[in-house]
Amino acid sequence: MQVVAFISGKGGVGKTTLAANVAIALAQKKRRVLLIDLDMQNALRLHLGMDPGDIAGIAREGISSKSIFKSPFGVKFIPFGIVLKHELEEFEAVLKQDPHWVRDRIFSLDRRAFDFVMLDTPPGPSVYLQQALLAAHHALGIVLADAASFATVPRLFSLVEEYTKANRHFAGFKLLVNQISEQSELGNQMRLALRADYGKRIVPISIHHAQAVSEALAFEQPVLKYDAACKASQDIQYLADWLLTNTEP
Ligand SMILES: Nc1ncnc2c1ncn2[C@@H]1O[C@H](COP(=O)(O)OP(=O)(O)OP(=O)(O)O)[C@@H](O)[C@H]1O
Ligand SMILES: [Mg+2]
Repeated sequence: MQVVAFISGKGGVGKTTLAANVAIALAQKKRRVLLIDLDMQNALRLHLGMDPGDIAGIAREGISSKSIFKSPFGVKFIPFGIVLKHELEEFEAVLKQDPHWVRDRIFSLDRRAFDFVMLDTPPGPSVYLQQALLAAHHALGIVLADAASFATVPRLFSLVEEYTKANRHFAGFKLLVNQISEQSELGNQMRLALRADYGKRIVPISIHHAQAVSEALAFEQPVLKYDAACKASQDIQYLADWLLTNTEP
């Protein structure tokens, strides 16, 4: 079982979109995948065709076979869940007190049941990011090829370093560039600058910007189903293959 965390310094860069679609791509390749939403926005469910009214989830029910939903797209799923303010405060107090809460519960699941556990996180430093990085074997830092995203990368590297100090099974952190467009001269230059600064720390596959990605979200579908032929869907398939060769033991 490999645990992969999707993280970012800046919000709205595509963590949730990519976590959901890569998980579905891996499920299509016959891998057993569990997706866990560690973000109280509860956005992951929108990409999985799941009922937005469910209140059950990690914050109330924890991580156990009882809190796992079956999504229509072949992946298992634990939503964050809808919680009241005091429940959220209690949950975060538990996470603060026990930084290994998520890790311990993931590794208490039947390890033969899942090939991959994928964690979606909120942007920037938080107890959720800390929990994810203490549970993960691998982390993917999603960045856009723009100046604002670029500027957050050094801070993201130091957060990863700080939060993974006590994680003995952590195998590596890589940046994944999302929403590229060959037509954007500035974007091309930013990508070159990222490569110059971070070289081998960048996943060799980037994800194209595609209109179908936001259209799919409006229809509460993964883009892989909504438009399997668009460039972003093809890139996501390559990314899933890359993950298989670079993370499976
Ligand atoms: N490759 C892409 N092409 C086009 N649009 C994209 C692409 N990736 C993400 N988006 C769009 O960008 C927006 C943000 O995506 P998403 O919610 O996945 O980001 P996030 O990093 O999870 O955000 P947050 O930090 O708020 O959790 C969405 O509207 C999504 O449709
Ligand atoms: Mg998100």
